[in-house]
Amino acid sequence: MVRIDSSEKLCEEELQEAALILKNGGLVAFPTETVYGLGANALDEKAAGKIYAAKGRPSDNPLIAHISSIEELEPLVTEIPDVGRRLAEAFWPGPLTMVFPKSSRVPYGTTGGLDTVAVRMPQIAVARRLIALAGVPIAAPSANLSGRPSPTTAQHVWQDLAGRIEMILDGGPVGIGVESTIVDVSGRTLTLLRPGAVTLEMLENAVGHVEVDPAMKGEPNPAVRPKAPGMKYRHYAPRAKMTLVDGETGAVVREIRRRVEEQTMAGRRVGVICTEETKESYPQGILRCVGTRSREETIAHNLFAVLREFDDLQVDAIYSESFSESHLGYAIMNRMMKAAGYQRIHAE
Ligand code: TXA
Ligand code: MG
Repeated sequence: MVRIDSSEKLCEEELQEAALILKNGGLVAFPTETVYGLGANALDEKAAGKIYAAKGRPSDNPLIAHISSIEELEPLVTEIPDVGRRLAEAFWPGPLTMVFPKSSRVPYGTTGGLDTVAVRMPQIAVARRLIALAGVPIAAPSANLSGRPSPTTAQHVWQDLAGRIEMILDGGPVGIGVESTIVDVSGRTLTLLRPGAVTLEMLENAVGHVEVDPAMKGEPNPAVRPKAPGMKYRHYAPRAKMTLVDGETGAVVREIRRRVEEQTMAGRRVGVICTEETKESYPQGILRCVGTRSREETIAHNLFAVLREFDDLQVDAIYSESFSESHLGYAIMNRMMKAAGYQRIHAE
């Protein structure tokens, strides 16, 4: 395993070494602007299979194929609907994944047996250069062990996958911190399958009305089959039971304080996810400030690292403040609700 220190900038030789591993059917973790990805040749079923083994990921959970330029899209799909073209123009390269009908070149081993393929052109130069050097589309889910939060630093990848993959490219902490927005453009209606930094509002601004996959609206329900198969898995569950508390800020703080006090008296270790605005308001509990409400991108950026920290600290319970569900808040609350197993209370 070659580990590249984050104090050095990734250089061309390192990217070439990584590209060679990918060409030869190996696994390389690399930074993108959203989260770190675990890459393999998307056209090589055997290589894609190694991703599932390394992550412990169920084989019906499809992978996203990453490309470095728009010309690489055509060979992977049977059709590029007009709306897909317009979204690509508006948001690629960037944190948007689109689901297209797949061409025969894309093996079922990459798509989890589906006739569609998810494609994304990442924004950061390191990722695109790596894909270009490899000369093939790169299948990459988030580079975490299945069931853990997505990695936002190379150290997170190391914690989960050291010894299981050939190489980790360390490009420092990622910018965005939550996974890409996924939109299905393969059907008659345009459907949002996962919220991300390309927000629903931004999508609708660009192309008009977007449906929201009903499976995304709440707790996994066996009667509602999600269009994004990955969504049926209980994504990430912290070791501790997590509860989201919503309501007016003063009431939220009072409710969390009351519960922390109760749990602390009972001898439990309690974690609190708070914000810059409220961090002085909690006299008890293990506090982690996730960011500032005045800039929600700070919350997206820190969320997964905070959840990982609480796992490491082995707290017994986590209480978290809630966020608005518009703009980037939609993606933040989607990940938080999953982490909390949809456990949410309203503070009066
Ligand atoms: O930001 C990201 O999207 C990161 C970076 C590495 O690009 N990747 C990522 O992949 O987060 P991950 O672990 O979320 O897995 C891809 C998810 C699947 O779980 C599934 O929900 C959806 O993308 N997906 C992939 N192919 C699909 C398809 N053909 N139809 C519907 N959903 C699909
Ligand atoms: Mg993932």
